[in-house]
Amino acid sequence: MNGIFYFSSTGNSLYIAEKIKAELGGEIRYIPKFKGDVDYYDRIIIVSPIHSFGLPTLVDNFIANMKSAKPLYIVLNCGGMRANAPYFAYQLCKEKGLNIRSVQVVMMPEIYTLTFSQPKWATKMVLRKAPKRIKSVIATIRDDKEIIIPKPKKDKWTPKYLENRKNWHMLATHFSTTTDCNDCKKCIRICPVNNIKHENGRIVFGEKCVACLSCYHRCPEKAIVYLDKRKKDRYINPDILEKNIGADQF
Ligand SMILES: Cc1cc2nc3c(=O)[nH]c(=O)nc-3n(C[C@H](O)[C@H](O)[C@H](O)COP(=O)(O)O)c2cc1C
Ligand code: SF4
Ligand code: SF4
Repeated sequence: MNGIFYFSSTGNSLYIAEKIKAELGGEIRYIPKFKGDVDYYDRIIIVSPIHSFGLPTLVDNFIANMKSAKPLYIVLNCGGMRANAPYFAYQLCKEKGLNIRSVQVVMMPEIYTLTFSQPKWATKMVLRKAPKRIKSVIATIRDDKEIIIPKPKKDKWTPKYLENRKNWHMLATHFSTTTDCNDCKKCIRICPVNNIKHENGRIVFGEKCVACLSCYHRCPEKAIVYLDKRKKDRYINPDILEKNIGADQF
């Protein structure tokens, strides 16, 4: 059976994971909650967004701690700037002695939109094109086609990736909540690292953020703001059920 492991803030990776399950079968497992043994599965498929030109912290940690000789397939998705993320992911798997077969990338709507707004037409266009690309990604996994990711000739991205990673844990300290917050506490429930608390009647952000932006995009009142900016655009993938982000599907 396929183990389809995913991390997702706004549902783009979940959408891809669901497509893979529909075509190839298997169980969908949410990486931050997974406590089992990946070796239980015959094939391991990891679906993850790209964060700052590389792997999100929680996915990086998950792969670094994996022990398995089972075939491993990685499907990354991003807003269009993959940089050397496929190489980082491939290299990490090789270093850990994992049986990496392929690292593929799908373009999905950009969610790192703290300081700019993605035009609606651009989001729609990317969503319209995604199924075709996902189909070819699934075919590569189905056929067990090996894809070797060579070392990039010029590597200006590694320093940026490593530098950004050093600061991610501080991102949420730039968040605050507006008077639209109705204390529903959803942000506390969905944060994958328990970085949000309710103290003295208000929402407080700690210093162990992994910069996933789940809280920012999925607050029903759009009450979480970055650096006090009052922009209102938020994104949740329209083709999944939001309640399934963070859940397993057997
Ligand atoms: C902290 C952070 C960093 C990101 N960095 C990149 C990046 O380097 N390149 C890129 O193309 N997209 C980047 N993105 C966009 C996401 O990779 C993309 O929107 C992805 O589809 C989100 O998937 P999800 O909804 O499953 O979390 C970033 C998003 C976040 C939250
Ligand atoms: S999800 Fe939004 S409305 Fe609910 S407690 Fe958090 S900030 Fe307030
Ligand atoms: S505080 Fe928000 S952005 Fe940071 S890890 Fe938690 S949910 Fe993600």
